[in-house]
Amino acid sequence: MRVLVSGGAGYIGSHTVLALIEAGHSVVVVDDFSNSKPTVVARLESLSGQHIPVHAFDLADIDKTTQLFSIEEIDAVIHFAGFKAVGESVSKPLEYYQNNLGSTFSLLHAMRRHEVKKLVFSSSATVYGDNAPVPYPEDYEHLAAASPYGRTKVMIEHVLSDVAHATPGQRIALLRYFNPVGAHPSGEIGEDPQGIPNNLMPFVAQVAIGRREKLEVFGGDYPTADGTCERDYIHVQDLAAGHVAALEHLDTMSEPVRAFNLGTGTGTSVMELFRAFEKAVGRELPYEVVGRRPGDLPAYWADPSRARDELGWTATRTIEDMCADTWRWQSANPQGFPDGS
Ligand code: UD1
Repeated sequence: MRVLVSGGAGYIGSHTVLALIEAGHSVVVVDDFSNSKPTVVARLESLSGQHIPVHAFDLADIDKTTQLFSIEEIDAVIHFAGFKAVGESVSKPLEYYQNNLGSTFSLLHAMRRHEVKKLVFSSSATVYGDNAPVPYPEDYEHLAAASPYGRTKVMIEHVLSDVAHATPGQRIALLRYFNPVGAHPSGEIGEDPQGIPNNLMPFVAQVAIGRREKLEVFGGDYPTADGTCERDYIHVQDLAAGHVAALEHLDTMSEPVRAFNLGTGTGTSVMELFRAFEKAVGRELPYEVVGRRPGDLPAYWADPSRARDELGWTATRTIEDMCADTWRWQSANPQGFPDGS
């Protein structure tokens, strides 16, 4: 298939671009580089040995998006592009709704105009909200989210479901990611947050490389085995493989839209992840247990059985792999991707 990857220069998008090419698909990237560097593309081309067409514009521009489908032959879309910082979404809700929903509307219009029926959407475990039973099951009906960012994901899931049901032949997979971490084993691409990282793994990696003084562990008094929060960390390479599996499954899907958890099914605590990272680095790292971060849930992980049974996909990489690969990327690229084009 020739796959349009929106947000293909971003963290999960870039790893998925490589996985798609390795699986024999060809790729077209659209990205406005608002939260990624153009230099990632050269690395993707060198790792894949292929030229990757890139279109640099904001998908919210419906005319440009529709035109893109005239210029490029496209069989399917994987839609990653979107703003994703939970905290920022609280202070800039309008920007989040406008950007995340607007880009999706543009894509859906262009897909309808050009009769592209296959879509894989980048959703999040955040759609389960605060009250879903653990492990989270896809058929939990009361989707909710605690932040504007999360609510864009819930809303888009509803929009996609309605459109899929109204469009003969449309097939949409909603992929609900748990906590993506890790990097490509080459160390050439990885997560490159701009500014202070919001998420645990990139923060720990920046402590290890000396860009941050110490990890602040947000809360040591949760009702968990060691008192720190537990999450379902999933290697970005497993996540990328999950996108390829979902894409290739769309044709055989009996319903127009289906949600799949992409997680391991196992919880790992903040301190367990931190200790595993210390092992990968080979030395102790500084940390301090501080107060809880508002909004954090004590512990949750995926029920990954639907993706296993229906997509034939399971996560295979361990926490040790996630830490080793993150460290390889971070130590080879202390400042992330270089500037330039
Ligand atoms: C967050 C988002 C979620 C998003 C996901 C992407 C929130 C509330 N949720 O999930 O919507 O899909 O990222 O990966 O932000 N921690 C520390 N110190 C730090 C950073 C994090 O102790 O400096 C702890 C957090 O308290 C949490 C765990 O590490 O217990 C994981 O945090 P994080 O990586 O931010 O992910 P989530 O909060 O699970």
